[in-house]
Amino acid sequence: MAKRTRETSRRLQAATSRKKAVATTQAPRRIDIDRGLARALVGLAIITAHFLVIHMDDLQLGPARLLTEGRPLGTLVLLLAIAVFLGVYLRVQRPKLIGSRSRLAVFGTLCIIPVLVARICALSGASPYLVPLGAIVFIIALCYGTSVAATTGFVVALLTGLALRQPGETATAATAALPLFGGAMAWMFGARRIRKRLWLFKIGFIAAAIQLWLAIGGELALGQELTRQGVWAVVNGIITGALLTAVLPIIEYMFNVNTEISLLELSDLNQPLMRQLGLHAPGTYHHSLVVGSLAETAAEAVGADPLIARVGSYFHDIGKLQKPDYFSENEGTQGSRHDALSPSMSALIIGAHVKDGAEMAEEQNLPPAIVDIIEQHHGTSLMEFFYHRSKSENGDAVHEESFRYPGPKPRTQEAAIIMLADTVEAASRTLPDPSPARLEAFVHKLSMGRLLDGQLDDCPLTFADLTRIQQSFVRVLTAIFHSRVAYPGTPGPAERSPKQPAEERTAPV
Ligand SMILES: [Fe+2]
Ligand SMILES: [Fe+2]
Repeated sequence: MAKRTRETSRRLQAATSRKKAVATTQAPRRIDIDRGLARALVGLAIITAHFLVIHMDDLQLGPARLLTEGRPLGTLVLLLAIAVFLGVYLRVQRPKLIGSRSRLAVFGTLCIIPVLVARICALSGASPYLVPLGAIVFIIALCYGTSVAATTGFVVALLTGLALRQPGETATAATAALPLFGGAMAWMFGARRIRKRLWLFKIGFIAAAIQLWLAIGGELALGQELTRQGVWAVVNGIITGALLTAVLPIIEYMFNVNTEISLLELSDLNQPLMRQLGLHAPGTYHHSLVVGSLAETAAEAVGADPLIARVGSYFHDIGKLQKPDYFSENEGTQGSRHDALSPSMSALIIGAHVKDGAEMAEEQNLPPAIVDIIEQHHGTSLMEFFYHRSKSENGDAVHEESFRYPGPKPRTQEAAIIMLADTVEAASRTLPDPSPARLEAFVHKLSMGRLLDGQLDDCPLTFADLTRIQQSFVRVLTAIFHSRVAYPGTPGPAERSPKQPAEERTAPV
């Protein structure tokens, strides 16, 4: 017993140091000068592009005068200051964004669109409320989060004001840039929770009201007469709402992001893949629903995304549709098809459901976050039943690696939670007497098994998260097992003979 405890604590320490080692290898250990230079060049290109856009009408002055004239020089000084501020902010808040040249280039392009439209409006005399600042801030909020969108919205509003400015005149710039920024903030907050397409129209009306309020307030504060710009401010908000409603799926596809709308659509059990699963693999369908409620509750407990956890769980085993009868939960009374197969052939068939599922998900255009979950839901875990069966048949000549899933290991909180929920759900069906205390010990043992096997090495879960996840699993499982009350005259769960269940032969899969 003492030896087993020592062995467990040794393996736990090894898992902890592996997690630390992963964290260390993921941290930047040295400055890569070439990559740093490339990122600096992208940053410089973004600043130059903004400068040229703001001063597109001064380009005929030539490079020498452009850099010595007071106004362009002032713009350049301001742009450099803004670039340093934004660069430091993004390096702290979004190191991945600043670390990738392509992502930085996309971000820079998004920032320049309102400035370019503002300058064209200023030169052509069109209303400054044609500037799509709200739409751009909305996209930035979807892609990079609300805090980056708020900061970027402020900076781009400043640059938009500069671009709107006519020589010797500042009022238009000030009275338009401020309302545009106010409307953009409505879009930033709105991007956090979009559960219905109609919600985008609502945000549009809220943005329109804010813009009207600030436009009138700005004109009055500057002692101007009220103009028609207030009407344009309202039109801007409403048209932005209508346009974003129409092009939201394109934005999701182009920027590889998911709103809650598309995830909620996928959580509909009438979705074609889910209907096929219910029809051809009813055991897997039921298993996926239970994994969904386990994962959703656990995701809420640790602050992960519960909707992604639930939808990811629904689709995690769709690859089983290729050969549903080979999976224990779909076996009828005819017995296991694996009895006639060699263990290595069985492992190949079982392991293939991961790759098949990812391919089916890609064909159906499911979001990349769901495809990743399908690929990662088993990590590189061992198909123990077939491994041990092969070992008993062939002795020590069996390679463990041939009986492991292809991976990769879970890389997000949601993928790791689904791996644990999958393991716990599949194995819990074998419990003969699932009292809360037994469930607790059972869930703990399975979770520690995954941890000690190194399956949680690449995900950002902490040990405290792992405890919370286990607690929520026990709560949900207790509720599920408690509701399975035996009818009078039939044996209760504890009385049933603990026959060797089919799941145990291949579970968890
Ligand atoms: Fe599963
Ligand atoms: Fe699976």
